[in-house]
Amino acid sequence: MCGIAGYIGQRNAIDVVYDQLKRLEYRGYDSAGIAYLNGSGINILKRAGKLSELGKLMGQRPDECGLAIGHSRWATHGGPTDTNAHPHFDRYEQVAIIHNGIIENYLELKTELIKDGHEFRSETDTEVAAHVIGAEYASGVPLEEAVRRGVKQLRGAYALVVMSKREPGKIVAVRNASPLVLGVGQDENLLASDIPALLPYTRDIVILEENTIATVTQHAIVLTDGDGRELPLKTEHIEWDVAAAEKGGYEHFMLKEIHEQPDVMRQVIAGRIDDEGNIRLDKVFSDFVWHEIDRVNIIACGTALHAGMMAKHLFEKLLRLPTDCYYSSEFRYGDPVLSPRSLAIFISQSGETADSLAALRLCKEKRIRTLGIVNVVGSSIARECDRTIYTQAGPEISVASTKAYTAQVMTLILLALYIAQVKEMPGVRVPEIAAELKGMGDRAKVILGLEPQVVKLAEQVRRAPLFFFMGRGADAYVALEGALKLKEIAYIPTVECPAGEMKHGPLALVSDGVMAVFGASESDVRDKIVSNMREIQARGGTVLAITTEDDAIVERVANVTLKIPNGPFDFLDALLTIIPMQLLAYHVARLNGCEIDQPRNLAKSVTVE
Ligand code: AGP
Repeated sequence: MCGIAGYIGQRNAIDVVYDQLKRLEYRGYDSAGIAYLNGSGINILKRAGKLSELGKLMGQRPDECGLAIGHSRWATHGGPTDTNAHPHFDRYEQVAIIHNGIIENYLELKTELIKDGHEFRSETDTEVAAHVIGAEYASGVPLEEAVRRGVKQLRGAYALVVMSKREPGKIVAVRNASPLVLGVGQDENLLASDIPALLPYTRDIVILEENTIATVTQHAIVLTDGDGRELPLKTEHIEWDVAAAEKGGYEHFMLKEIHEQPDVMRQVIAGRIDDEGNIRLDKVFSDFVWHEIDRVNIIACGTALHAGMMAKHLFEKLLRLPTDCYYSSEFRYGDPVLSPRSLAIFISQSGETADSLAALRLCKEKRIRTLGIVNVVGSSIARECDRTIYTQAGPEISVASTKAYTAQVMTLILLALYIAQVKEMPGVRVPEIAAELKGMGDRAKVILGLEPQVVKLAEQVRRAPLFFFMGRGADAYVALEGALKLKEIAYIPTVECPAGEMKHGPLALVSDGVMAVFGASESDVRDKIVSNMREIQARGGTVLAITTEDDAIVERVANVTLKIPNGPFDFLDALLTIIPMQLLAYHVARLNGCEIDQPRNLAKSVTVE
């Protein structure tokens, strides 16, 4: 997600903040900006594109400047443009603000502010937050009080850093769900979204707690709670080197991104499910007529197609909407039969996959309606689709997709619920499923607690010559993704198929030492899965079952069982079984000494055929 930087002290604050932003570049961004105080007030330099674009404006900076804040933006609301780049002013240009996160109620706030005469330059939720805080500040209260009052009107995830013209020796910061750390220096203090941007200046940091207001001056940091009461300052000394810090202390980006999934599952739905359980995608589909659609074609590659297969399962099971899945590379050359009443959905983390982009252009030539499910805002597929829903997973650095997959599936579930809601389908319990979606992050967090068991299992099975990944129903589709993870980072051969397909050929590959991973979350086919397990074991294979806590039959048969918390909807349980499979692939690869984040022969975005 976005990078945040701030400095107050004796050095040239603009140079320090620019350097901090360079140290945050690995997080991925598409625009950057810096705000600083000069004689006449607050000055903002900002540009779309890489930091070097902002660097071209540095010649304008004053030689002396003791306070600055900076930001590298990963676009969520509004494309990557100069205007949408942070920092943003309030109405009176008395306050400048930078933000990481998603303000869920920004549209309601913006509507009310416009009625009060506010004018907005950008499409961002951040500018709305600036106006809210600026309006409080205009009453004459100190900046920290304006921030305290302002954030009480915001809903959603945010890390906010604020400076003002009236109080030039002060930076105020607050967070809710988005990361923010403070650096405690000698006669200087710093702020950042991530530790790497602090380490060159200090190793003494303060992790800002949720809903705590930090008032940062050159010689002090004062923490207060939502009522203004002072809180103790707990400093930690960081021993990490910069490389470790960029991974948040994890050994690889892949493991960091696996562990980000609880937050990502919350980010995906942020602002998209209201308090009554209604799905809010009207902005994407404002004039779309769903009753005209008689078929959905999902076109993608790799992990993205595996997410699409989960959507096929759901669209047909829940919506009774005929749905086909196509490999992009096959679709573009296969002369597909396309109904003029069909919707083509393109799923892509990068939004730049060549085969998917070519398939999209083919559909547009045939005047087929197109929808993108994309992570990178402003990417080619996002721009060229008629409409796009962004997965809001934040930048995914590791070549092996993990959080992007779960974000894609969660987004597609939201879409399915939205279609059911718009078509008023009585059989689809939209509010109940929506409520379960809100709890997915918590369940994912619990499942990550299985990691020590997975590490032990990985030590036992890491030399297995072949892995089967199988399941039934939604589990069969998750199995495809679990297999791809092991293949692409541990280079171990896998067979992935619906469990019922085993006897039609793949079973011939089972012998001593073969490992079979079964997703067994679907309770109504568990007895069939148990038979398949026995067929594997009878031929020397070893069975790992990933099932739910309410299961009592699978664990009696499997050689190893991992249990995940179960819920009322099988397809949500099935999605969560991918987390132990991701962890298994990661730890097998790590124990086998594989290069994990950049596996051989693969690229993060396949922009060529
Ligand atoms: C999955 O781990 C790989 N990174 C790969 O299969 C990837 O999902 C595929 O290349 C599609 O990429 P996209 O989502 O950026 O289009």
